[in-house]
Amino acid sequence: MTPTNSYESAVDYDVTDGVAVITVQNPPVNALSVAVRRGLDAAFAQFSTDTDAKIAVLIGEGRTFIAGADIKEFGKPPQEPRLPDLIQRIENSEKPVIAVLHGTALGGGLEVALGAHYRLALPSAKVGLPEVTLGLIPGAGGTQRLPRLTGVDAALSLMTSGRPIKAEEALNLGVIDQISTETDPKTAGLAYANQLLATKATVRRVGEMPAPLVTATELADWRSKLTKKSRGQLSPLACVDAVEAAATLDFASGMTRERELFMSMLASPQRAALIHAFFAERKVSKLPELQGMDARSVTKVGIIGGGTMGAGIAVSCLLSGLDVTLIERNEDAASTAKATVTRLLGDSLKRGKISEAKHNAILAESFRTNIDYAALSQADLVIEAVFESMEVKHDVFRQLDAVCKPGAILASNTSYLDINEIAAATNRPQDVIGLHFFSPAHVMKLLEVVVPDATAPDVVATGFALAKTLNKIAVRAGVCDGFIGNRILATYRAAADHMVLDGASPYDIDRALKAFGFAMGPFEVSDLAGLDIGWATRKRKAPTLDPRARVAKFADRLCELSRFGQKTSRGFYIYADGSRRGSPDAEVLQFIEAERGELGITPQKMDDETIVRRYMAAMINEGAKVVAEGIAQRPLDVDMTFLSGYGFPRHRGGPMHYADEIGLPAILTDLERYAQDDAYFWQPSQLIRDLVAKGQTLSSLND
Ligand code: 3HC
Ligand code: NAI
Repeated sequence: MTPTNSYESAVDYDVTDGVAVITVQNPPVNALSVAVRRGLDAAFAQFSTDTDAKIAVLIGEGRTFIAGADIKEFGKPPQEPRLPDLIQRIENSEKPVIAVLHGTALGGGLEVALGAHYRLALPSAKVGLPEVTLGLIPGAGGTQRLPRLTGVDAALSLMTSGRPIKAEEALNLGVIDQISTETDPKTAGLAYANQLLATKATVRRVGEMPAPLVTATELADWRSKLTKKSRGQLSPLACVDAVEAAATLDFASGMTRERELFMSMLASPQRAALIHAFFAERKVSKLPELQGMDARSVTKVGIIGGGTMGAGIAVSCLLSGLDVTLIERNEDAASTAKATVTRLLGDSLKRGKISEAKHNAILAESFRTNIDYAALSQADLVIEAVFESMEVKHDVFRQLDAVCKPGAILASNTSYLDINEIAAATNRPQDVIGLHFFSPAHVMKLLEVVVPDATAPDVVATGFALAKTLNKIAVRAGVCDGFIGNRILATYRAAADHMVLDGASPYDIDRALKAFGFAMGPFEVSDLAGLDIGWATRKRKAPTLDPRARVAKFADRLCELSRFGQKTSRGFYIYADGSRRGSPDAEVLQFIEAERGELGITPQKMDDETIVRRYMAAMINEGAKVVAEGIAQRPLDVDMTFLSGYGFPRHRGGPMHYADEIGLPAILTDLERYAQDDAYFWQPSQLIRDLVAKGQTLSSLND
């Protein structure tokens, strides 16, 4: 009987009846930390000389096989053994090795499995190579071994999307050999091992399989498709380079090429930005005020107003299994709202997001409209999405206060209004909160949880819990005009308008920012959202505007001509024949030119770099002010707001991360230079000044 060994307790080695069971034990996700790599290295060394063990079964303890390399180690000095060498050792084994996959076998985890000779998965397992989402490529043989099993197209599809696939699809693609019916990885592995021993199965090394076939044209097609899609992100294209090496070089040379590409990605700012985004996404909901705080139970949701937002919020709740009663002003509005919700649910059915049975059950059992607030007497949470008017909101909250049960949470989806003032219309300000969804509400990931002064902590916790139920990312925001996102948006949007007055065209600005990686330029976004929204906001704010503020009028001019953007086929762009892609309009340039003339401005040419610098400086400066005022608790909350709600390129990490990457001293120099022309608009944030003086970064405030 071979003794059981525990390698730094991260890997266990145990032999029963000729089968060595090697177990990775590194909770919560068995990441391949240095301790795990050393443990596996020692375990496979022991297996190679262990005469009692004829075959090895590699499993992960707990909820998953191995979820990949330890992301926390990236950017730190590498420690031996390197993962590719460890996997080579596993593949080189003279005795068969089986990897049993359950939970998620991702990245380096799947690469370890590809180094094994046989791969068995439990039915619930998912596998994938998500490195690209972290700005990397698979760096432990994945780019060389996977295409040998699946062919180039399937391998590139998995690697360049980072998409995990279910066991069934993995089997069809040849990534795994079998799906077990067992639910326990060890039981499944032992049964498979005995089956292989009985058939005298031998080792089967993927690295020794023939190189995959691909033509130059196919690779060129992949590159051109990815260049269009990846908006400046480098790692998808590096995956193609690595797979090209798999097809054209011998295995060892392909591994060397993979390593070079991996190391260059590892050193790139995009990798740092994407890993910042990964951890920020998890940290954003970890707030001291939520520690140990139980959320209130929410199963029945009321929604007031079934327009653009109310209908989308209703669909988001319904798709997540909540019961929804939607209140409208009158029967006509209620039936319009019902039709919108039904249409959106129909779209979800068409896109395969829900089954027909679930779709029908939602409409039959979980959703109803009403015009009587009394229908909300049993609601656990009510979300108001009526017109953006304090008077209307007060009226709604008074009625809710009268009919809702004690402990029901009353939330507003207001974009800009003071939620303290809304809460004051009720006798239960402790139960009032802002839940600011983004349009389309059933699609957009961001939910700003806006916390007024009197809100009870468990109501905040419920906002975060609701976001999780709805599969959204919650960011805590304080009350101010526009909260985190719209407040910062107002500032950089104004900076864009100022640049237009100074000489850039809206089309120059949109082009420069798309080249930077934004999904859309700010003027395209205005056309999509509707120019009337900004017009109404400007009118509302006009009386309180400081006389020193520089106000561009060209957008109002378009609105006066009923050019509201896509919905009227004209805005900053012309949308011919219902097209969603606009073309520039000479008339818009004439309006701008006329305004410059009235203001006596001689237009200057602005290149893309100048545009991006000024736009980002405005965004960063306001972001820092939002952090300094406690509207956002940490810089990472600003980053998550922009990454999940405003189309900020993820591979830039968010505005606060980007500021650190450029360097705060350089940002401050820009701000001071712009202030020479417009000292009112460009007032550098005191926080930036202080951090520069102390030689610190914004990210130092994240912990
Ligand atoms: N390294 C280090 N920590 C990790 C990790 C990893 N690979 N994966 C997850 N974690 C941590 C999370 O940060 C979190 O920590 P916290 O509790 O302190 O916040 C904890 O594990 C649990 O993670 P989640 O909250 O995300 O748990 P879920 O159950 O929702 O999701 C998961 C699990 C699907 C595994 C998800 O965590 C995930 O997608 N992880 C990343 C997987 C990945 O990208 N792997 C590839 C890494 S790169 C690589 O392998 C390079 C190689 O090719 C050389
Ligand atoms: P909308 O005009 O599309 O819909 C408002 C709906 O409320 C209408 O259907 C109207 O009939 C109904 N309504 C008005 N008063 C009511 C009352 N007393 N009782 C019941 N129903 C009533 O407006 P939209 O765009 O959906 O905006 C709603 C709220 O969401 C506003 O506060 C807005 O600022 C906010 N918001 C809007 C976003 C957007 O992109 N449109 C994004 C995020 C928030």
